[in-house]
Amino acid sequence: MSEPWWKDAVFYQVYVRSFADSNGDGIGDLPGITSRLAYLDELGIDAIWLTPFYPSPQVDHGYDVANYVDVEPQYGTLGDFDELIAAAHARDIRVIVDIVPNHSSAQHPWFAADRSRYVTVPSANNGTPPNNWPSNWGGSAWTYDDERGHWFLHLFAPDQPDLDWHNPQVREDFDDILRFWLDRGVDGFRIDVAHGLVKDKQLRDEPEPFPTVRFSSDWRTAIDQPEVHDVYRDWRCLAEEYEGDRVLVGEVVFSDQRRVVPYLRPDELHLAFNFSLIFQPWEAEQLRESIETSLHELPIVTWVFENHDVTRIVTRFGGERQARGAALLLLALPGPVFVYQGQELGLEEVDLPDTVRQDPIFFRTNGERKGRDGCRVPIPWTRALQANAWLPQPASWSAKSVEAQAGAAESFLELYRQALALRPHGTFTWREAPADTLAFDRDDLTCVVHFGDERVPLDGEIVLASDDENTAVWLRR
Ligand code: NOJ
Ligand code: CA
Repeated sequence: MSEPWWKDAVFYQVYVRSFADSNGDGIGDLPGITSRLAYLDELGIDAIWLTPFYPSPQVDHGYDVANYVDVEPQYGTLGDFDELIAAAHARDIRVIVDIVPNHSSAQHPWFAADRSRYVTVPSANNGTPPNNWPSNWGGSAWTYDDERGHWFLHLFAPDQPDLDWHNPQVREDFDDILRFWLDRGVDGFRIDVAHGLVKDKQLRDEPEPFPTVRFSSDWRTAIDQPEVHDVYRDWRCLAEEYEGDRVLVGEVVFSDQRRVVPYLRPDELHLAFNFSLIFQPWEAEQLRESIETSLHELPIVTWVFENHDVTRIVTRFGGERQARGAALLLLALPGPVFVYQGQELGLEEVDLPDTVRQDPIFFRTNGERKGRDGCRVPIPWTRALQANAWLPQPASWSAKSVEAQAGAAESFLELYRQALALRPHGTFTWREAPADTLAFDRDDLTCVVHFGDERVPLDGEIVLASDDENTAVWLRR
């Protein structure tokens, strides 16, 4: 029997709002994605992950869902969605969609109804919140509703009330929601805040100190409850009723990877993001350690450098040279890889003026944390930038546009295209290497990454180099 398609797949993350705009309103949409499938096909990815495109007041740009089984009018219609799936499948590109089960939008009809589906605590007054849980984004995780006379929980913004997964009705609702999209042909789900759904039933105080900003969802006792695993066992059964190896990918964010392991038991999630690379600097020893620990601790490892929540690597790693080297490192690692839109163009984090910022993190922390808008600026397709893009594109992105980079030998885009075409498979083995260097084999291909000025002797034919200084190279022995 052949391995499931996702075992070694390259997933390309489409942040729907910022990918491709088909009707010129400055906002990406589903027909825009369909119109760019040829680009993705040529790039050489295996699957796309669509961030939430459901009806939503867009407080958190779609991670506040007001209806789980329809399409936000800004982004298109269910008909557009069906066309996108059919066109992607015709090109052998799989499509997974984001599901947001931890919380809904406060605009969801469930929240307007009796709220039995939410975590609430009745109280006569708005004195002290039920416990000390902090919101991920600053302040208390509880808001008092005067009219209803109760506190409701929100691990994120107050516009995103947390669902109560101790209520069987919620579980039934989500079974129906998953089926709705599976029946429409999706190849799987990316599960938002997958470790968070089930809260401590007794709502006990979280021990201090609280999670750090870096791992702001690293609560120790409020979430990650044993019952959450029953949910994923059910979902796994449900996914397996369908043909075609539908995949469940969890966003499980813990600083200690050992806490991720139970989510990957054979009857639970197929994959979970391994975020450890996201927290490393461009430094050989720390990256080596992160790769090694991941391979050692996790039953199946995925690799991620960028997504819509973190600073882009050109900025984080200190320049294009490093980010090009990182591309060859990433695409030589064993197992599923996630590439975030624009990473293949070498886009940097945009230093936006505060006046255009939209991320609730910026507002919830009174500007103390700038938030994530800088990595969400719409993709520049053409040298002529889009004047009305919902977040402004810097003028320098004209030269980084797809139009400017396609076919240009030295461009980021061509580096990604070549790396995806030559991506190695097979057994991973470390090689001896000097302190400032990482080297490993994947069968007959060797990947060498130089972090300093020293260069190791390269024995083999260079099949791909990240630049003419050989910062990272792939060698055929
Ligand atoms: C994680 C998502 O990646 C992030 O963008 C979102 O704001 C939070 N979950 C809340 O849904
Ligand atoms: Ca549009």
